[in-house]
Amino acid sequence: MHRCACNAVSLCNGPAAAMPARAAAPPVVVPEPTRSAAPAGASGRSVLILGGTSAIAVAIAEALLGQQSGPVVVAARDLDRAEVVADRLRSAGATEAFTIRFNGAEVHEAERVVAEAVQLLKRVDVVIVAFGNYVDSDGLAGDLEATLDLVTLNFLGAIAVGEALTDVLRSQRSGRIIAVSSRPNGWTMEHAGTYAASKAGFDTYFASLAVSLRPVGADVLVIRPPGVNTPLIENHSSFLTPEEVAVEVVQAFSDGMAELTILSREERRLARRSFPRKLLGRVRRDMRKVSRRIGV
Ligand SMILES: NC(=O)c1ccc[n+]([C@@H]2O[C@H](COP(=O)([O-])OP(=O)(O)OC[C@H]3O[C@@H](n4cnc5c(N)ncnc54)[C@H](OP(=O)(O)O)[C@@H]3O)[C@@H](O)[C@H]2O)c1
Repeated sequence: MHRCACNAVSLCNGPAAAMPARAAAPPVVVPEPTRSAAPAGASGRSVLILGGTSAIAVAIAEALLGQQSGPVVVAARDLDRAEVVADRLRSAGATEAFTIRFNGAEVHEAERVVAEAVQLLKRVDVVIVAFGNYVDSDGLAGDLEATLDLVTLNFLGAIAVGEALTDVLRSQRSGRIIAVSSRPNGWTMEHAGTYAASKAGFDTYFASLAVSLRPVGADVLVIRPPGVNTPLIENHSSFLTPEEVAVEVVQAFSDGMAELTILSREERRLARRSFPRKLLGRVRRDMRKVSRRIGV
């Protein structure tokens, strides 16, 4: 898979290069990109979770709160379940925890929901975009409506919140999105092609958004977990726990990374067998350094 920041740059340069030169035009000042843009104000680091009951998102939010407390908005379909999460996040260090109703499939409501969250938080430092569904071809059973619903939620719903968040982060000139993509995004999957395709759209959209937000001081971290034991899919003993995912995400977030592909347990085992542990640690550290330097 290839997501090239250079493509975006050359697209940006295209129209500018085609414009006629104007003698007295003042130089365009491009603001310095500020990575990890999360200005810690008096109220700490604020977190909005879209798909607030997601096991992966809750574990990430807890880990972020462990680093720095702040207010939280849990946006979810079911307010009772959202309240349970809010309690858990208060225990994890949230200074305040609000719940709001959010249905990711109602794409035209995204702007209103984001505005409601911003009103509660005043400034949004971190947004975790985690809502989504996994249904394989057996579950969809050739039902076109169910297939389109899955695409609407995973892809169009995510773009709708992405667009609403773009306006907010641009006007704040700060804030970071953690977009929960998936390892199989864009894979050829005999039994889950619709899921893989919808997540590919999600992934490309948020990876591109990272490039366009960076110049204004905001950013996106796209994470691609492998199988994780959550209510979304049938559990498997080899899958990671949400907490294991969260540890890696928070590290990548602190390092200012733009993309994080998380290895499965089996891949880690193979990597450990192929590389001595010391060498593997060094490769990981070097990759993080390179990633920070080139912004991917
Ligand atoms: N688990 C994995 O193996 C895995 C691997 C890679 C990526 N992911 C991705 O991780 C994300 C989170 O999943 P998870 O593993 O944490 O499972 P999860 O705990 O089941 O979370 C899924 C979340 O999506 C929400 N959701 C579903 N339909 C919604 C709708 N119409 N409007 C708003 N929210 C809706 C669910 O809300 P309700 O509580 O109301 O159902 C739930 O909060 C998903 O996008 C998934 O594709 C998961």
